[in-house]
Order: sequence, then structure tokens, then C-alpha cells
Amino acid sequence: MATTAPEATRPAGARSDRTMGHLALHYGAESDGPIAARLLKAMGLVETQVLSLPGGNFYRFVANPGHAARGDGIIYLAALPEPQRKLIETIQSLLGMETAAQHQAVTDYQAMLASDPEASFHFGFLVDSLDDLEAMVLNLRDLNEFDPELKGRLTIGVNRARRGDAEVDARLDASPVFGSCERYAYGRNGVQVFVATDLIKAGQLGDRMFLEFDYVFPGRTDHILSVVEL
Ligand SMILES: [Fe+2]
Repeated sequence: MATTAPEATRPAGARSDRTMGHLALHYGAESDGPIAARLLKAMGLVETQVLSLPGGNFYRFVANPGHAARGDGIIYLAALPEPQRKLIETIQSLLGMETAAQHQAVTDYQAMLASDPEASFHFGFLVDSLDDLEAMVLNLRDLNEFDPELKGRLTIGVNRARRGDAEVDARLDASPVFGSCERYAYGRNGVQVFVATDLIKAGQLGDRMFLEFDYVFPGRTDHILSVVEL
């Protein structure tokens, strides 16, 4: 049952506001840098800077063009620093990842992520057009199937809004992405897209990154990002 989200209030004594500043992402192999940058662009992020550095390019992206000269809404993309690369290799080796001796904890963790991609570390973007979000998913599916560089590098999942709003239900039933979806979000009046990729190294095992893209139907105060429903 939905509950109404509480009014946001400034904590007592606080004199300033915060916004989400920046997200720092890392790719693995040097040759993956330009491919990961291509992927971020295909996800609608805006590239504002590329620096050529020894070991791999450094990129600056923003979530939308309005953030190009700002200090928030930024996504940095850089090569894994060597100590982090060695740490990831050591963790994966000691846990026997992708071998017959893989530690049960890894198997259980991977199974959890397969059933719920936002159960562990991930980062979410909000998209203000459902048409654009659907076009992004269709393009990513195509790239994952046919693109020489991106083929097989993505795992894409979607959740549709819980049923209950006739207008939302009808729009999603007719959607080329969400119409056949049988997974439901932890809430109503919004949809979620999850893209996992090994082009970006993050998470507890350093093997991939989960990015989320959400859309919320306009005019609804109870939605997937305002009220969590179990
Ligand atoms: Fe999430």
C-alpha cells in the first residue's frame, strides 16, 4: 500500500544545500577506454572533455548539457589505477572467480545480482522522456548484438511500473520495451532500466558496473523514486 512521501525539510542548523556532484568510473584495459566512452554516449551522457594520458584516456561527461560548466552532474571516466587493478586481480584470483573452484560467496552474490540488479552498488540516472529511454534501450540491445566493439559487453534488464494507473498501464502495454516485461519495480508510476557492463570496473568484485536509468510519469507524487513499496 502506498504511503505519502514526507515533505523534504532542511536539517536543523544546516546552512547550505547539496546536489549530486560527480561519479568517478574506471575502465579496465586501455583499449576499453574509447569503447566505454562510446557506451556512455549511447546512454545519452554528454562528453565535454577527453585528455590523452599515459595508460589511457581520461574523460569528463555530464548528465545533460546544462551541467557542462557546472560542478555537479558530472561523470568522470578514467583508466583503473595500477594498485586497484592489482587488488581486483588478487580478489578474483583468491576467490577462484570463473573457475571450477569459485567461492560459494561469489556464486551467491552473482545469483543475487542476476535476480535483482540494484541489490548492490549501482548508480541511477533520471531520464525525462520515456520515448528517449525506450530508444536508448532498443539501441543498446542492437549494439550488444551486432556492434563489433560492444557485442556481448552488456546485460540489459527492465522493470515496469506496478499496475494500478490506467494511463500508465496502457502506455507501458504498448511499449516496445516494457510491453512484454513481467518484472515490476518497487513502486508505481515509473520504470527502470538496468545496464551492467564489464567495460566499467566497479562493485565488490571489481568486475562490472550497474547503471540504472529511470523514468517517472509526470504529475504523480507517489512513484518508484519517491515511495518504495515492498
Ligand atoms: Fe536503484
